[in-house]
This record gives sequence, structure tokens and C-alpha cells, in this order.
Amino acid sequence: MRVCVIGTGYVGLVTGACLAHIGHDVICIDNNEEKVKLMKSGQSPIFEPGLSEIMQSAIHANKIQFSTDLAAGVAHGEILFIAVGTPPLPTGESDTRYVEAVARGIGANLNGGYKVIVNKSTVPIGSGDWVRMIVLDGIAERQKTLVTAGGGIEEKLPETNVQFDVVSNPEFLREGSAVYDTFNPDRIVLGGNSPKAIALMKELYAPIVERKYAEDQSLPPVPVLATDLSSAEMIKYAANAFLATKISFINEVANICDRVGADVTQVAKGIGLDSRIGNKFLQAGIGWGGSCFPKDVSALIHTADDYGYEAQLLKSAVSVNERQRLIALEKLQQVLKILKGKTVGLLGLTFKPDTDDLRDAPALNLIEQLNRLGAKVKAYDPIISQTGMRHGISGVLVETDAERLADGCDALVLVTEWQQFSTLDYTKMAKLMAHPVIIDGRNFLDPEAMAKAGFQYVGVGR
Ligand code: UDX
Repeated sequence: MRVCVIGTGYVGLVTGACLAHIGHDVICIDNNEEKVKLMKSGQSPIFEPGLSEIMQSAIHANKIQFSTDLAAGVAHGEILFIAVGTPPLPTGESDTRYVEAVARGIGANLNGGYKVIVNKSTVPIGSGDWVRMIVLDGIAERQKTLVTAGGGIEEKLPETNVQFDVVSNPEFLREGSAVYDTFNPDRIVLGGNSPKAIALMKELYAPIVERKYAEDQSLPPVPVLATDLSSAEMIKYAANAFLATKISFINEVANICDRVGADVTQVAKGIGLDSRIGNKFLQAGIGWGGSCFPKDVSALIHTADDYGYEAQLLKSAVSVNERQRLIALEKLQQVLKILKGKTVGLLGLTFKPDTDDLRDAPALNLIEQLNRLGAKVKAYDPIISQTGMRHGISGVLVETDAERLADGCDALVLVTEWQQFSTLDYTKMAKLMAHPVIIDGRNFLDPEAMAKAGFQYVGVGR
């Protein structure tokens, strides 16, 4: 099938590359010329395991193109994905201006034939109908321009053969495993009221539904859930809000464990064995961050407010998280007492491993607060330390390796559970430090092994 993906952020680029990989003819549109140039050469503008490889093989197979030309993209695609960002506004609402500009642009360039316009961006509930309206506005504006260009004749142009439907197809991929998640989804959600559009979307995803590209191809087909537009939009928010709340819940339990002397990692195991609870997303630590959870939970709270409902549980999940982000600071103060004049080394900066994403990363709050209290902050991150990004973060000196980081530090804080942090030479690092203290903000390390390496080990709720 011919597909056009507009916006090449995490969601758009991964979607485009994966659809090309399974045999569709894809064109990815972005208005950033430099980015388009980079992608044409087979390089991914983001760090995402496996992404450049599938981009390169799709380029080689002539299955993917990159362009800044929206009109060409709209002409090419029978399925048009809107995958631009919806960043948070200071009020907590999502900023939908990029979605609006793209929808208008699609309308202005629709040129006959039936198209499915798919919302992949996470948009406020009710946006499906709004997108339809903006596309229609775009069509009307174009007709007006054509009339004016044609000598000011005030009559409508003959109806162009433009037909389209809007489908909401929320994205559940995780950064760091985005390609894997696309080929191994738990479900595919399709919201809309046009059976024709839903049927085309099912055809598009058929190879993924049949698990042709899955790690375990013997599994039953991926469930496809067809819903109305608003329910599909709500599923995305509710899923993220639930997961964020689950983490805030275990973090609250961890804080109680700290006080009563229980071990939250054992508690999580014990409750996770109950199939009604499940064992995932029960890792206590320094809180959730990233580009999705904070933005989506705030947007859902905001939507509820707009409709006269106070989302108390979600508000609590956010406030528990805000406090949790500073738990490492509290623990540093308990061990080191005064932080002024001390040097603290952060192991990891990104909001989670296997990504170069710093959006809403707990490390940034920690750096700010440590600076405020007069501590010097250093950091080592397997990705950030290797890229130009290391110069862009204020208030922290980014070192090139973990041993240089440890040198002279009064304490280390493990912020991100990068796999390679499990095999560092901690005995050597402890010897290089002024005080061998480690706050394990992700309960990632083995407390006994750390004690053996010479560290005073402090976890979260253990
Ligand atoms: C999330 C959702 O998982 C995904 O379905 C959605 O499409 C986008 O948002 P992502 O932001 O990439 O994905 O990361 P995720 O792995 O879900 O982690 C989010 C945050 O929660 C991270 O800061 C992570 O460190 C934290 N987390 C996760 C915990 O603190 N404990 C856990 O048990 C799991």
C-alpha cells in the first residue's frame, strides 16, 4: 500500500521505517531539510536500537523516501499518517498547532481519490472530529484560492473528487525498544466510524497482526480493537495514566518500606505474582519521566477539568512523582549531611536506558537542586557522554567514562539503569572516591556486591 507519514519524530520515523520494512511504499515528510537530508543517507536523527538498519534496508529496497514536499506526500499516500508532536503547554494542555497545520496542509493538497487520514499523534480526546473539520477547512481555502486565481468568479469550483475518513490509531511504543514494539505489539487500536477506512488499516497492519515480523511467530494474531474515535483517543491516555499511576503506587510503597525496614523489590515480586496485578511497571525508583507520561497524564487531568471533573487520583500520581524525583537528594542529605562544597556524580542522565532522550528526565531536576544547594555535579552517560549533547546541559560536567566520574566524588547516584552499569569496576571506582557512597536510584545494583566493592549502598525502599 502507498503510505505517507508526516512528521519524523520517534513515532513517525519508526512507523514509516517499519511499514516500509514490511513491504509498503512509504514517503516520510518533514519540514526540517537537514533532517530529511540525514534520513535520505540512511541515518536516524534519533538514537533508537535497530532503526538505522531497517531504514537502510528500506532505502536499498526502494521502499522508503524522505522529502519536505507535503503536496507530493499527500499525492503519494492512500493512507496519510499525522505523526507530529503535541508538546505540553505551560497549562498542561497539549499544543495541537502542529497537528492543525498538517491537517490544513493535507486538506489544501488533497487531489482526488479516497484517503484515510490517520491520527498517530497523541491528541486531546475529541480531536478526530476536529481534524476532519480542519481538513475540510483546508479544502475550502484551496477552492477559494483557485476561484480568486481564476479571475474572482464568486462561484464554487465544481466538486473535486475528494473523499476521506479520519482514523485514530494511537501509538504504544516505548523509546529504546520502539522497533521491537512495532513488530511485537500487545494490541492495535483503530478508532473511527468508517468500515472502509478500518478495513484498509487492517490490511496495512496485516503482516504485523499475523506476527510475520515478530520475535515469537507462533503466538496467536495480535488483537485488533476497533472502537469509536474518542474511545481510541482515550485508550492512549488511560494506558499511560494507568502505568504512571502504577509506578507512583510502588514508589509510595517503597517510601513506606524505607520507614518500616521492608524491601520493596521483594514486595513488588510478591504482589506481582498475583495475575490481577502483574509484575511489570513495579520497579520503584526516582520516578517517571520522558516525553509521554508527564505530558499525557497532565493532558488527561486537564481534559477532565474542562468537563467539570477533578481527576484526584491522577493528580496524586503526579504529586507523588514530583516528590519522588527528589528522593535521591533526601538520601544524599541523610548520608552526607551538608551538600554545599560536595561533589556528586550521576551515573546516567537520560530518562531511561537505550535512548538519548532527556525530556523530563529526573536527572535534570536533581542537577538543578544539587546546584541550588551548592554541590558540584558531574555525570557519565553511555550515550550523552559520546555526543555533542554533553555540552548542552547546564550545571553539570559530563565525563567521558565512569572511572573519571568517580574520581574525587563524595557520592554517586545511579539515575538511569543502563545495562553497562552492572559491569563497571566498582572496587576501583570506590577507591577513587572521596567517600564511597552510592545512592541506587533504580534499585539496579546488588547491595551485597556493592558493599563488597567498598561502597556504602543506599537503595529506594530496600
Ligand atoms: C511510555 C509507554 O510505556 C508507551 O507505551 C507510550 O507509547 C509512551 O510512553 P516511554 O516513555 O518510552 O514509553 O518509557 P517507559 O519504558 O514506559 O518508561 C517511562 C518512565 O517510567 C521512565 O522514566 C522509566 O524509568 C519509568 N519506570 C518505568 C519506572 O520508574 N518504573 C517502572 O517499573 C517502569
